[in-house]
Amino acid sequence: MDRSQALKRIHELRDLIEHHNLRYYQLDDPEISDQEYDGLLRELTELEERHPDVDRTASPTQRVGAAPLEKFRSVTHLTPMLSLANAFSEEEVTEFDERLRRLIGDRTDLDFVAEPKIDGVAVNLVYANGLLAVGSTRGDGFTGEDVTQNLRTIRTLPLKMTPRTRGGLPARIEIRGEVYLEKEAFRRLNERRIAQGENAFANPRNAAAGSLRQLDPRITARRPLGIFCYGAGTVEGAHFGTHWDILEALRDWGFPTNPNIRLARSIEDCIAYRRHIESIRERLPYEIDGIVLKVNSLSLQDQLGMVSRSPRWAVAVKFAPTQATTVIEDIIVGIGRTGVLTPVAVMKPVQVGGVTVTHATLHNEDEILKKGVHVGDTVIVQRAGDVIPEVVKVIESKRTGREKPFRMPDRCPFCDSPVVRPEGEAARRCVNPDCGAQLRERIKHFVSRNGMDIEGIGDKIVNRLLESGIIRDAADLYRITKEQLLELERFADKSAENLVAAIAGSKRPPLERFLFALGIRHAGDYVAKILTKRFGSIGAIEAASQEELKAVEGIGPTIAESIFAFFHEPHNLAVLRKLEQAGVRPVSEQKPTSSALAGKTFVFTGGLRGFSREKAKDMVESLGGSATSSVSKKTDYVVAGEDPGSKIEKAKSLGVTILDEDGFLTLIREAEGS
Ligand code: IVH
Repeated sequence: MDRSQALKRIHELRDLIEHHNLRYYQLDDPEISDQEYDGLLRELTELEERHPDVDRTASPTQRVGAAPLEKFRSVTHLTPMLSLANAFSEEEVTEFDERLRRLIGDRTDLDFVAEPKIDGVAVNLVYANGLLAVGSTRGDGFTGEDVTQNLRTIRTLPLKMTPRTRGGLPARIEIRGEVYLEKEAFRRLNERRIAQGENAFANPRNAAAGSLRQLDPRITARRPLGIFCYGAGTVEGAHFGTHWDILEALRDWGFPTNPNIRLARSIEDCIAYRRHIESIRERLPYEIDGIVLKVNSLSLQDQLGMVSRSPRWAVAVKFAPTQATTVIEDIIVGIGRTGVLTPVAVMKPVQVGGVTVTHATLHNEDEILKKGVHVGDTVIVQRAGDVIPEVVKVIESKRTGREKPFRMPDRCPFCDSPVVRPEGEAARRCVNPDCGAQLRERIKHFVSRNGMDIEGIGDKIVNRLLESGIIRDAADLYRITKEQLLELERFADKSAENLVAAIAGSKRPPLERFLFALGIRHAGDYVAKILTKRFGSIGAIEAASQEELKAVEGIGPTIAESIFAFFHEPHNLAVLRKLEQAGVRPVSEQKPTSSALAGKTFVFTGGLRGFSREKAKDMVESLGGSATSSVSKKTDYVVAGEDPGSKIEKAKSLGVTILDEDGFLTLIREAEGS
């Protein structure tokens, strides 16, 4: 390839890769496989290495993370980054409107743009001639830190602006936005950090800030940061009449803008908007802490100006605080399914973000010491999303001297066996394998929504089933009869029948949920997912060596050890066998990627000698294939046993491969080896 061909291909590849980034990250609708994508990226990297003089600033290869920095350079924003005045109630929103009307006169054309207030990290992005030149943090509003290398790793952020159909690109523009981490990504990141013995981030905002201020961009590149752009600072070579126009231009240029932004024609619309956003708040994949109302007309914005570093034309309307102050009346100790002792504060009931809270976690002994929590203390509690409320800090000025320090017990409060605190761990643990409290928690976890998802079986029923001796482990659930339930208090004919049916209905869970339900230490839903993807069946996971487990991307030594130990513990194996006998057969929707049978369809006909049809079906499914009952063009194999019947004729007429039992077994063995 000569130089001009290489340059042409470099440009082609850059456009192609950015196109696929958009399909994958923004539209969630990829057009090519991960392997094909990696292939394109590799080709581009090689070409760029062979032609080092070609400018790489806007190349997607820069998104994977450049070399680490010693420290960040500081940059001065062209236009300072202001902060927002706050409002906390509907009255204060109305006052905002009244204030505006006093300043600009009462008018009918006062429109607003209403936006969610993203709880992340503010950034300023300078694009020169359409290329991302510098990206920085807000800093003190005038000067921030140059985090360009890290911002480049955000896949949804254009490195190059797309020109609009009308009008070219501004010569220079500062684009303002908020970098955030989705709640789910935050949870996974923490799950991994904890498994690797690192400190968890307190909330998604801290995690986003920590990721953005990483000196090593390769670490940032591994964090799935997102960005919403919501405004502009200095603009050279473009003109806008309204804030709405700016948002439209941002979208056209390829910047991610929040899909919930609305134009509001009156302050009443704004109030309705706030109620609406608050009602969907928990369901949004990212955290928001309120809404922002902005006067739409830019000439009115100019006219209104600012006071003490906040514009008069905008206001942040915060949601009900998710923190509140209350008093700790007692500290009790709960036992988790892995035996961890968790101190829990019992508090005077208090409203937090619209919910009455009476209990908050104190996490562990070290946290109690670090925060200096005593029984009787006045504390700040906090609730975030659907996580358990936690004690944030003690208000020491409220101390009376009557508060009592708390000591973690030396014995399990449930089974009274001595507790241990392994070196280097913050948790005390009850290590009695027969501890009833652990069993109770394991079963609650087993039946929970993200686990086997057995409807109608809450904490109370689990307790009663255990106390009455009807169940001793999770597998016993599948042997419960209606008669047994009827002997328990508060069960009637119908409810007993329903529960038995719900339990029976849970016998074919997706493998990843089954794995999660088992409650393997360090294996939350994320780990369950990657195990499913890599191994495809319980049998394969059980058979995996520690080395094989460790070799899986996303599974570190601690997790591998824990999974391996789980599948080699006799009691666990006994429960697994019992589940199997009870007919619990996890199904793998995720086909093992390597299997030769992935995606193949089988039809069984006639009597099989060596194994049941159910078993044959399992074998096929565990290798990523599927079994159906009728032969069609889409059937890949028909397995014929004794006295096969008419399906064979159909298979012959369609040219479908026909196997006998031995042929089938050979195929399975080959696929298992692949
Ligand atoms: S406008 C002068 N719009 O909230 C107006 N800010 O103090 C500047 N934020 O950290 C901000 N979402 O990054 C605006 N839709 C939004 C926002 C937003 C989040 C952040 C902003 C800054 C703080 C404002």
